[in-house]
Amino acid sequence: MAKNFEGISSMSRQELCELIDYYKNNDPTELFAAADAVRQQYYGKKVYFRGLIEFSNYCKNGCYYCGIRNGNKNAVRYRLSPQEILECCEKGHKLGFRTFVLQSGEDLYYTDDIMCKIITEIKSRFPDSAVTLSIGEKSKETYERYFEAGADRYLLRHETALDDHYAKLHPKNLSLENRKQCLFNLKEIGFQVGAGFMVGSPYQTTENLAADLEFLRELQPHMVGIGPFIPHKDTIFAHEKAGSVKLTLIMLALVRLMLPQALIPATTALGTADPLGREKGLKAGANVVMPNLSPVEHRSDYALYDNKICTGEEAAECLACLSRRIASAGYEPDFSRGDHCSIKFEYCFSRTGTN
Ligand code: SAM
Ligand code: FES
Repeated sequence: MAKNFEGISSMSRQELCELIDYYKNNDPTELFAAADAVRQQYYGKKVYFRGLIEFSNYCKNGCYYCGIRNGNKNAVRYRLSPQEILECCEKGHKLGFRTFVLQSGEDLYYTDDIMCKIITEIKSRFPDSAVTLSIGEKSKETYERYFEAGADRYLLRHETALDDHYAKLHPKNLSLENRKQCLFNLKEIGFQVGAGFMVGSPYQTTENLAADLEFLRELQPHMVGIGPFIPHKDTIFAHEKAGSVKLTLIMLALVRLMLPQALIPATTALGTADPLGREKGLKAGANVVMPNLSPVEHRSDYALYDNKICTGEEAAECLACLSRRIASAGYEPDFSRGDHCSIKFEYCFSRTGTN
């Protein structure tokens, strides 16, 4: 019998657990179709392209699941200079991208002054483009400086919403409380904010996933990143099982139903876990893809997990390949800024300084 997911925005944790378990054990086709229909109400068939620039794999943190964690002596470290980052944007802008996502480990080389200079320079050279940062936990003052410099959006996955699980994935110096506080700070400052979590991370229970949904319902982020956990050979989780693609798609669809206007990427991890993972993600409610604009010579060094896809292609090849895949899945590649649909146009223009 079909499960009723209509009331998802007011379900208790227990009810959310039952919903997740039901679709784990049954055919989720109806859930995916409902999620796809909801996303079409707000965004039609559009799939927004974001140019991802992985600009440094140095990190001061030691997240147990992550291939670029500080303790991994086998990682080949690199960082791009501000000039190299700008060159990636230049290349991306010529290809049509109007959002640049700057992602890195928590690399202290990029002081607030350096980061703000990079943001200001990107915004002044490409005033029609949005800048998204994904560079970890910072003080509220630092986030304010990034925002004043012109950054528009910030991605910071909460990773898991319950303390005991968080503690099994992270060293003692990192706390869920601080990560959540960062997300609330970012929202208060005015960023379009992205949270999110891995599916199938070690020790994760259905209750954890239900709590992730509850946290997203509380935070009401503009973006949600969800991907399967994939082990990395140089971490303590090297021999753990990867997260299930089916369960990842179920969580993605439930998030779409809970936050109908959210921007949700079909992640590279999903494409790594299943050759058609990204297409399946779109059909379960995702509406963003993030092809890589980083220099090819460093791509494979930004290895968060094993066997990451798209590390060998030039940006233009990635773009052409993804555009083709999206069109053949029945969706429309879209290269506009692709803001959250609650954001007014005037606001975006005033933030870019062109109006
Ligand atoms: N340092 C920034 C931060 O902490 O948000 C951004 C970089 S971090 C590597 C980006 C995301 O990669 C994390 O939020 C995590 O969810 C994901 N990630 C890391 N290791 C992973 C793994 N083994 N499998 C799947 N995703 C992983
Ligand atoms: Fe810092 Fe993964 S541990 S980016």
